Amino acid sequence: MLIMRNLKTTAGGVSFENPLILASGILDENGYTIKRILEEGSGGAVTKSIGMEERDGYMPPVVVEHENYIINAMGLPNPGIENFGEEIKIARTAGKPIIGSIYAADPEGFLNLAEKMVDYGVQAIELNLSCPHVKGFGTEVGSDPVLVKEIVKTLKGSIDIPIWSKLSPNVTSIVDIGRAASDSDGIVLINTVRAMAIDIYARKPVLKNTYGGMSGSSIKPVGIRMVYEIKKELGLNIIGVGGIESAEDAIEYIMAGASAVQIGTAVWKYGRNIFSTINSGISKFMEDNGYENISKMTGVAVQ
Ligand SMILES: Cc1cc2nc3c(=O)[nH]c(=O)nc-3n(C[C@H](O)[C@H](O)[C@H](O)COP(=O)(O)O)c2cc1C
Repeated sequence: MLIMRNLKTTAGGVSFENPLILASGILDENGYTIKRILEEGSGGAVTKSIGMEERDGYMPPVVVEHENYIINAMGLPNPGIENFGEEIKIARTAGKPIIGSIYAADPEGFLNLAEKMVDYGVQAIELNLSCPHVKGFGTEVGSDPVLVKEIVKTLKGSIDIPIWSKLSPNVTSIVDIGRAASDSDGIVLINTVRAMAIDIYARKPVLKNTYGGMSGSSIKPVGIRMVYEIKKELGLNIIGVGGIESAEDAIEYIMAGASAVQIGTAVWKYGRNIFSTINSGISKFMEDNGYENISKMTGVAVQ
């Protein structure tokens, strides 16, 4: 029988029993599904990104599926912050960290949402500065270093729990944006890569919204590069995300500089037990290669 190594880690100011966290947007709009995933071995969970008002999202088709990636343009459907307290209450009964993801257009909007999330009892706030397909939010906010700095400063000055900034890969210089967000307790890299697909028989874009965000194993090399670059240039505390499907993928992110990783599309593709499978694989790798803990592996590949 495999003896589980010490998988504990502290990432972005939050302690986790293992380095795997459910990513925002996948089975995390509902308290019971979050709880179930935490019970199946995830060390923590990020909620769906929540805004001030309830949003229906876009009309279908909202997803393009491919063997190695999916492209989604959901349009940030969510119940709105006032309706989300009950879901967090249910999710918290699993006894593991819940990170509240929020989106807004300006610092005041983010602050109002963060204060509500604090009242609901989350352990950290994840600022979605990076949704690639919703006008006025996401990348439009997250590609402006002055606005990013202002948002982070406003939240750090008023909120007592850790603040994570989730950045977009759809920018010219990730280091410039990372620097603007450097007062955050954790930098989350990466959100989806702006993409599209065309139906050649219908001769038109597949997604109703035309453009979407690509996730899944195809984006992993982009995520690894950005985690590495931010670790090397700025030395910040990082949570890696993008295309993780196996223990080897998670270890690659950790060696590039991540203290923990998030998993999204692979939960959709392979099911909830992916967390225990990846945890066992990481543990075996640590045993075979003499790593005592996650922090000893974090950033070892950075030169
Ligand atoms: C269907 C879907 C919905 C998503 N919704 C959100 C969201 O609400 N907020 C957010 O920050 N990221 C969202 N993401 C991005 C993921 O959290 C993650 O950053 C991205 O998918 C890359 O990781 P993966 O390849 O493991 O899925 C979403 C991704 C997918 C596939």
